[in-house]
Amino acid sequence: MRIVRTVEELRALLKPERLAERTIGLVPTMGAFHAGHRSLMERAVVANDVAVVSLFVNPTQFGPSEDLGAYPRDEARDAEIAAAAGVDLLFAPPVEEVYPDGFATTVRVGGVSEPLEGAHRPGHFDGVATVVAKLLNMVGPDVAYFGQKDAQQALVIRRLVRDLNIPARIEICPIVRERDGLAMSSRNVYLGAEDRARAVALRRALTAAEQAVAAGERDAAAVSAIARTALAQHAVEPEYVALVGADTLAPIERIDGEDVLLAVAARVGPARLIDNVILSTTDGAPQTA
Ligand code: PAJ
Repeated sequence: MRIVRTVEELRALLKPERLAERTIGLVPTMGAFHAGHRSLMERAVVANDVAVVSLFVNPTQFGPSEDLGAYPRDEARDAEIAAAAGVDLLFAPPVEEVYPDGFATTVRVGGVSEPLEGAHRPGHFDGVATVVAKLLNMVGPDVAYFGQKDAQQALVIRRLVRDLNIPARIEICPIVRERDGLAMSSRNVYLGAEDRARAVALRRALTAAEQAVAAGERDAAAVSAIARTALAQHAVEPEYVALVGADTLAPIERIDGEDVLLAVAARVGPARLIDNVILSTTDGAPQTA
């Protein structure tokens, strides 16, 4: 696996691959790899001739009171994990390579970036959309892989790619979880033992809601109340519990027909955690995303 730091070097290495019509898959990341990241890498490796992973802790997507300084960083460990997954190229640029002096452009996606995370983390999706647009332009992949863990981010990126005619396909991969159901996240390392135990509340809340829908409940307020009760049982206070159209993120009142995204965000001790599930009634059984 090659590690490259500059866009020039990256393009020089990828140009012959593209000329030979070899397919390129990209997995954008901020490092601190876990099994969720590995699942995206493995998908990129099996489905493409060349698998590229970008590792860049993007400062523009962190709010002023967020954890940019504390964000876990261990490039040597990450490089080992990526190499073991079969990744060909690790693109790990310094901040000044991505945001050189005079940088003055922001990519803002409207609509799907506004509710949920957008409402609680002002400017976050501007930073995400800007860096992902840049990474797609730098690498020029045939396919880019994102996780359903960040369901809203995935929708924002799909919108971005459509609106700017970026010639990459976006593939969304399922949420990878710890044995007790906690969604894997680089931020889970912030959890002490007690908070780690409470953190299962998010998954428990989603499962309780899913079971209610499977048992026939269709009223969004009732399903939301069930999820909130499960969170309260672990003394977890949510920032939001939202039932929204899975493609639009518009609030819904009844779970009927269209796929519904049930999304939860909560602070558990020092960590801000998110999780979600798709509630589908069309095939008779709810699905876990
Ligand atoms: P990061 O949090 O490092 O996540 C990189 C990718 O891994 C994202 O697409 C995310 O959804 C996916 N991922 C994280 N946890 C996962 C899990 N438990 N199961 C499956 N996939 C998971 O998301 C970002 O970085 C950044 O915002 C980025 C897109 C790189 C832009 O800076």
